[in-house]
Amino acid sequence: MGKVMLADGIYWVGAIDWNIRNFHGYSTHKGTTYNAYLIVDEKVTLIDTVKAPFYGEMVSRIEEIVPLDKIDYIIANHAEMDHSGSLPMILRDAPNANLVTLQKFGEANLRKNLHLDCDITPIKEGDELPLGKRTLTFVPTPMLHWPDSMVTYLPGDNILFSNDAFGQHIASSQRFDDELGLDTIMPEAEKYYANILMLFGDLITRTVDKLSGIEIDMIAPSHGIIWRSHLEAIISAYAAWGRGDTSNKAVVIYDTMWGSTEKMARAIAEGLASEGVEVKLYSLTSTDRSDVIKEVLDARALLVGSPTLNNGMFPSVAGFLCYLKGLKPKNKIGTTFGSYGWAGGGAQLARAELEQAGVEIIDSNLNFKFVPDKEELDECVEFGKAIAGRIK
Ligand code: FEO
Repeated sequence: MGKVMLADGIYWVGAIDWNIRNFHGYSTHKGTTYNAYLIVDEKVTLIDTVKAPFYGEMVSRIEEIVPLDKIDYIIANHAEMDHSGSLPMILRDAPNANLVTLQKFGEANLRKNLHLDCDITPIKEGDELPLGKRTLTFVPTPMLHWPDSMVTYLPGDNILFSNDAFGQHIASSQRFDDELGLDTIMPEAEKYYANILMLFGDLITRTVDKLSGIEIDMIAPSHGIIWRSHLEAIISAYAAWGRGDTSNKAVVIYDTMWGSTEKMARAIAEGLASEGVEVKLYSLTSTDRSDVIKEVLDARALLVGSPTLNNGMFPSVAGFLCYLKGLKPKNKIGTTFGSYGWAGGGAQLARAELEQAGVEIIDSNLNFKFVPDKEELDECVEFGKAIAGRIK
């Protein structure tokens, strides 16, 4: 598969990582892409690069269009290595290229990450870069995903090169949303947002507001497919996710040693479902935490179950809650539950972590010794019904 044209003189020249299954701890069941774009005008401009091992793949696509020594500018929208990793090689092989990046944090982060000693042209919001018939403009989007993040906008063609924002981890031979289909793309966009951007919901809201002032016909992110037919779907989804909108849904997350905490989890889920609430139930032994976090994004209630192990939380539950705390989900209610043997503590410790994650804690005392009996499981069912009453 070669270069792909977005518009006259504008090309996708990125790389497809079909086999990656773990992206710094995020499970990428469908692989990913590293998208780079080439604009051919009086000045030839490369927007972003690819992860270092994929440099050759990017270069082969660029060389279908122009030789490397024709590149005048390389725009680095973000210093993270999945986009900047090929900069040392392309700067070596494209001797006439001038590296352009955000003044605030961009230059410093690129130099520290990649140990670059070349000249860098710093830009700031409102700066313009004339290319000939076209002119690029830049919008800083700090913390989407790093302090150095920015997006590049091409007026006239109305293309937003959005870097991490609006991305998805999908490897595919198709490049556009209308080729792959929303049913395939949106769950991956949601998982991407939940795991990469949920922490920055307020910033997302401000960015969506800021971008609403410019005319956009195409969003070309740095991962996954390019949006050209379903822009409203992804922009309105980002607005909802940024606000922390929730649905009539509860997620029951647990791990278990001898099945007791699992019995409780299933009983709570039964109570929730009996009242018409959508329930998702996940064992942290069976399901990767980044898949669970996707389901947390729009859930109203989180019920977390932990057995007690060595007077503490079960390690998989502790790890999940550590991850959750970092992502700071919005607008959740929840509590914890669990079985113990001789001394409790797992569920109580988990509750403190859940509270620190920003979840509004519902009073409960679902801590049962060894194997829960029918009466105790009935209590779990009733608790599930009570939670349903809080979220419907
Ligand atoms: Fe896709 Fe923050 O890098």
